[in-house]
Amino acid sequence: MVRAASRRTALTYSSYLDLDTLLDCQRLESAKAGKPAHDEMLFIVTHQTYELWFKQILHELDAVLAIMGQPVVPERELGQVLRYLERTLAIQKVLIDQIGVLETMTPLDFLDFRDLLAPSSGFQSVQFRHIENKLGLRRTQRLTYNAMPYESALPSASQRQVRATESGRNLFVLLEQWLARMPFLRFREYDFWRVYSENVQAMLAKDRAAIEHNDLLSDDAKAIQLSELDKTAENFGTVFDAARYQALIDSGQRRLSYAAFVSALMIHLYRDEPMFHTPFRILTEIVAIDESLTLWRYRHALMVNRMIGSKIGTGGSSGQDYLRRTVEAHRIFTDYFDLSTYLVPRSMLPPLPEELQRQLGFHWRGA
Ligand code: HEM
Repeated sequence: MVRAASRRTALTYSSYLDLDTLLDCQRLESAKAGKPAHDEMLFIVTHQTYELWFKQILHELDAVLAIMGQPVVPERELGQVLRYLERTLAIQKVLIDQIGVLETMTPLDFLDFRDLLAPSSGFQSVQFRHIENKLGLRRTQRLTYNAMPYESALPSASQRQVRATESGRNLFVLLEQWLARMPFLRFREYDFWRVYSENVQAMLAKDRAAIEHNDLLSDDAKAIQLSELDKTAENFGTVFDAARYQALIDSGQRRLSYAAFVSALMIHLYRDEPMFHTPFRILTEIVAIDESLTLWRYRHALMVNRMIGSKIGTGGSSGQDYLRRTVEAHRIFTDYFDLSTYLVPRSMLPPLPEELQRQLGFHWRGA
């Protein structure tokens, strides 16, 4: 046995990581053109590093989708979902920081080789499109340039792959379905949504009376405060009525289904109940991932502005103008950010029925 093992070529650092291949794929276009540009090495290595991190993010997202895509998501697997999402977020932070490394290249240095890169562009990053699709960015949301679908810039095999991830499962939908299945909203006579909406309406009525009967306020000040209160009441009104909420979805102002929205709100409000800890952290992580992707888009657009001013991109877009517009238009989990509008202070939260609270807790009673 020992002799057989020793006959195998011993694994080395280099062979394990296939470094000969990895370190031999930085081919400078400027060198091919006979005028090596010093900073092109940085440009290539930075992009390659991004692609490697994209690969890792996809590895994490695939694992999350596999767990969340089960008809019933086992609670004991939620911790893994959380860890994979936390890792994704940690990588995103590196991706944002890496922009600073590339920005050590000045616009003039970039001009030494930029023209040699056309018509290639980061716009053709297939893995970036997979990440967007697996998170749940919709085609209808995407800004186009030259009125062309986003995948038209890709070779046909990549187009097929990108369409496959677009029509495959994504985190937005799986999370939505998981939330919509949450069982704790109704428990015997208790109905979370009814109790919560009655409580909020009573709270608003109390606030209104307090303003109206406050002799220290001038009529103008009262009018301003009442109008603010009307806006808050209107905000709540749109979500307490399923038909009005649906109208928001129909007009594109909301995406998350009503059932999932109500569950997500309950998780946020009662997150101190042990059963809700991990779901709450997952929802928080999702918001952070969306925020980081948005920040990356913005940092990238600023870098592009700094490098090429208002020139068009090598891929043919309006450059930083297109990129800046994607910052808002390509956000995915905005519904989860908006949940904060409907939170009330813990002190005003209606208590859960004792039995439900017990069931949402840990039950260990000792040996
Ligand atoms: C000097 C540095 C860079 C410049 C000047 C630049 C420029 C651009 C421009 C102008 C676009 C719009 C499409 C086009 O017309 O080409 C674009 C898109 C893109 N770039 Fe960069 N880029 C730079 C670095 C990077 C890096 C390091 C990455 C990392 C992977 C990257 C990834 C992307 C992606 C994913 C898109 C598509 C964005 C979208 O459609 O939402 N870029 N880039």
